[in-house]
Parts: sequence; structure tokens; C-alpha cells
Amino acid sequence: MSVMYLRGGVPLEGELAVHGAKNSVLPILAACLLARGPVKLTNCPRLTDVTVALGILRRLGCQAWQEGSTIWVDPSGAAGSAISEDQMRSMRSSIIFLGPLLARTGEAHLTYPGGCELGPRPIDLHLAAIRAMGCEVTEDRGIHCQGRPRGGEVQLALPSVGATENAMLCAVGGTGTTTIVNAAREPEIGDLQSFLNGLGASVRGAGSSTITVEGGRPLSGGEFHIMGDRIVAATLLSAGAAAGGRVRLRGVDWRHLATVLSVFHQAGCRVESRLEYVELERDRWVPLRGAPTIRTAPYPGFPTDAQAPVMAALAASQGCTLFVETMFDSRYRHVPELIRMGADITTEGRVALVRGVERLHGARVEASDLRGGGALAAAALGAEGTTVLSGLHHIDRGYEGLEEMLQRLGANVERREA
Ligand code: UD1
Repeated sequence: MSVMYLRGGVPLEGELAVHGAKNSVLPILAACLLARGPVKLTNCPRLTDVTVALGILRRLGCQAWQEGSTIWVDPSGAAGSAISEDQMRSMRSSIIFLGPLLARTGEAHLTYPGGCELGPRPIDLHLAAIRAMGCEVTEDRGIHCQGRPRGGEVQLALPSVGATENAMLCAVGGTGTTTIVNAAREPEIGDLQSFLNGLGASVRGAGSSTITVEGGRPLSGGEFHIMGDRIVAATLLSAGAAAGGRVRLRGVDWRHLATVLSVFHQAGCRVESRLEYVELERDRWVPLRGAPTIRTAPYPGFPTDAQAPVMAALAASQGCTLFVETMFDSRYRHVPELIRMGADITTEGRVALVRGVERLHGARVEASDLRGGGALAAAALGAEGTTVLSGLHHIDRGYEGLEEMLQRLGANVERREA
């Protein structure tokens, strides 16, 4: 088992390009099933979730491999229509293969992705979307879908990111016109639309709450550059806010981080948003201020994935900050670990009250989910002394070489075998 040693109290100073977005590359890999020719994807992060997605594609008969940040997928040999239980279990977002698999083969057999660290992870909206496109869905010790999607109106009860993407993929591979109403508006959905249209699909409206797909167009192969990861950026900026110093990030669009940047600005950081970069600066001798209530919400609201890292930064501040987590049931698992580091935080249900303390101190802490892990690393860099962080397999699902990224910003971090 490896652990991360992080020595706090050193201000960060540096610049780096943020790697590609996990939440963009995963649905795009699933979309490759709809292509008829080889696909080349650049700016792909090396993450365990990406390895699992490549494994699913291979098990379905595709050739799929990654070299550095480039992925090649040749879907011409794809034939299977079932995803095994172990693959469904090893990544919650494997449900995203449902729509394209069904559209390609006329059937799909999956097991339930199950709950996860964040609480229950229902898929009712995904299944309702498939049904709205005329396919039959039965649930009997797994999910079994049959039929060729032939368009329809998909009304999402909630703007679910995964259900929106599944509906788009199913509709693109089917026939007829599909309208997705109350679609999620996350930037990664825009990336998926650009990828699909680049292969010859007709998808309009990503970024708004109505998406229209004209199905029935054959998709060629092609090449696509994955967008930068805004949540990795939010985590690195949180580390900068916690430790002080100056962090400049390239490869992300600051507009996708607007709500996060606004919190840091209100907490007393200098934030510079340019087309080419986003920069955060904080004088390490001037404490952060508490921020107005942070309520997570679907995009363009404050991202639930940035809640933990931003809380980690504000744990050492002057004043209080109230967090309201509206997206997931169980998303405060980093809080007991921050408390071990000296934070003063109380939670009740979906609300967390952070009473800023002067300084956190190093401790032995464990990541129990992906973004909570990123948060603990950010907190450690602002703390006094050394933090030993375990549970790194959670972090490796979504951050490529977190310790290397932090080292490039001047942090004193290393990964060692425990
Ligand atoms: C995606 C992101 C994840 C992020 C989340 C919310 C990916 C791979 N993951 O996850 O990082 O935290 O969006 O921004 O892109 N829901 C239902 N029924 C469903 C589907 C969802 O009730 O069928 C609920 C969920 O329980 C949750 C809410 O809808 O409360 C939002 O979830 P959703 O947007 O679907 O998240 P994911 O797509 O799983």
C-alpha cells in the first residue's frame, strides 16, 4: 500500500497544464462504440477509471489502448452486448455504456452499478430515457434492454449528467429525432456533443437544458482533443488557497470554474481569469475569510465535486462558511479527517458548518472517496507539519499523478510504500 507524505507550510508557486477531464473522456470512450472507424483521442488522463473503461471496450470486442495521453479505439470488431458484474462494480459510471451498446447491437445486458462512496447511485432516469426511445427494459437480476432506439421525447425528472449522456448516445445510434428536456448543462456534455458531431452526428443544444438529436447518421472514425479537467483545476486552486502563494493553471476554461473562483475571490484571494490561464494568488500571511453559503447545484451552480477541496481550504480561515450539499447523500466523509487535522466543522444531514481555525496541523488521514482525497491533500499543504495520506486508490481514479502536479507547484510531497 502506498501513502502520500505532504509537508505543509510551504507556499505554492508555479504553473502547469491541467490534464484532460475524466468526466469527458469516460462518456466519449463509451461513444466510440457508435463509430464505424478508428478513433484517436488526445489529452486523455491516465487514471484507473480510464483503464476500466478501456477494459470494457476490449471485452466488447474493440481494440483499445492508451499510450501516454493518447487513446486509440478501433470499434470495428465490437460484437458483445453484455458487461460483466466485475466491470460494472469497478466503476460506477460504467452505466454510460448502456445507451451506445443498445444502439449498436439492439440489446444490452448489464448488472447494477450499485451504491458508491457518495451514497446510493440510482439509474432510474437512465432507464426511463431508454424506454422513452421505444426500447424495452426489464430488471431481473440485472438490466436487460432490447430494441432499436427510434427517437422520442426524454423528460428528465432531474438534470442528471449521466442520464443526459446516455440518452444522447442512445439517440445518436438510433433513428428518428430525440429531444432531451431538462438536460444537464455540464461542460463535459458539450465536449461529448462536439466529439459526436465531429464524427458526423447531429446533436444540438448541449449547454442548454434542451438537447436535440437527429439519429440515423452513420458515424465515421476521427480524432478529438479532450477538454481540461475543471475539478482537478479546482483542487489545485484549493491547494493554492490553503498554502498561499501563486498558482497558474493552463488548459482549462475559467468560465467553467466561475462559481469556484468567485468563492476564492470572496475569501480574499486574487483571481486572474484569462483566455490562456487562470491564476490564484494568496498572501500566506493574510488569512482567508469565511465565504457566503456554498450550495452545490447542477451546472452552472457550484459543483458538488469541488465542495470537499474548497471546504479544505476554508477550514483554516477567519470566520465561518456554511456548506449545503444538495446533490449526494454522503459527501462529507472528508470532514472527520479534516477534524483530525484540527478543523472545527459540524455536519447535520446535508449541511456542514465550517468555523475557520487559525491553522490546521498534519495528521494521519485516509481518503475515502476521490474528491475527498484531493481535499485532504489540499488541506495538508496549508497545515503545519507533515500529513500522511492513505486511501490513494480513490485519488488515482481521478487525479493523474497528483503528487507530481503538486510538486510542480513547489509543494513538498512524495508517495512512498507504507
Ligand atoms: C456525474 C459526474 C460526477 C458528479 C455528478 C454531479 C461523471 C462520470 N461523473 O455523475 O463526478 O459528481 O455528475 O455533478 O460525469 N440521479 C437519480 N437517478 C438517476 C441518475 C441520477 O436520482 O438515474 C440523481 C443522483 O442520485 C444525484 C443526482 O441525480 O443525486 C445527480 O447525479 P448525476 O448527475 O446523474 O451524476 P453522475 O452522472 O452519476
